[in-house]
Amino acid sequence: MPITLRPAQDGDVETILELVNQYAAENLMLPRTEASVRASLADWLVAAENGAVIGCGSLVPLTETLVEIRSLAIAQGQQGKGVGGQIVLTLVEMARQRGYPQVCALTLRENFFTRLGFELVDRWSISPKVWQACIYCPKFHRCDEVAVLMNLAPQPATAEQEAQKPPAWNSLLRYGEWRPLLLAYQRKPNRED
Ligand SMILES: CC(C)(COP(=O)(O)OP(=O)(O)OC[C@H]1O[C@@H](n2cnc3c(N)ncnc32)[C@H](O)[C@@H]1OP(=O)(O)O)[C@@H](O)C(=O)NCCC(=O)NCCS
Repeated sequence: MPITLRPAQDGDVETILELVNQYAAENLMLPRTEASVRASLADWLVAAENGAVIGCGSLVPLTETLVEIRSLAIAQGQQGKGVGGQIVLTLVEMARQRGYPQVCALTLRENFFTRLGFELVDRWSISPKVWQACIYCPKFHRCDEVAVLMNLAPQPATAEQEAQKPPAWNSLLRYGEWRPLLLAYQRKPNRED
């Protein structure tokens, strides 16, 4: 039976909590409460096989322009089959459809995310809101997670890219090209004209 991804439903909450809080107990992610999962159910995706939920992940809006992928968890025994990658890419698509220009994640699995198209960024370069939940983390003072980011909208050119552009006057007409135009403009009309 193929593994399918679908939006989470009320009946999935218990399994989501089991998956997430089992890994939270191993300090691999932050725990989630039943209330927080129920309140954000529209932001969750689950992977199911034979009707059983085997993985989940959620989007957490941080600012109007930045959304975080959080609580990504695949059941033990189901890992390494591409399900986690599929959930991440589908959450990225959800973020794009919701109009977010950037998606980020805090993770111990840098390579997993960079292979999916994320880039490693300075953790302090993204919104401080991403750290709000961290005060509840037992590893708050010895955090070993890295921040990864994916841009979904074209970014403004960097100073370096701007410097490589040809100067604006390059596109102006050269003297030899505009001189005849000037002469034509100055030419007095013939009486017959
Ligand atoms: C991290 C996690 C979500 C990844 O989920 P997953 O389903 O195992 O991820 P994938 O199968 O898409 O990719 C995992 C690896 O298997 C490889 N892989 C993908 N498809 C594969 C396949 N069909 N066969 C074998 N390997 C495969 C990928 O290359 C990837 O390698 P990498 O980790 O070196 O990048 C999962 O391992 C997990 O739940 N871990 C515990 C909780 C956790 O740490 N969550 C935090 C994530 S921020």
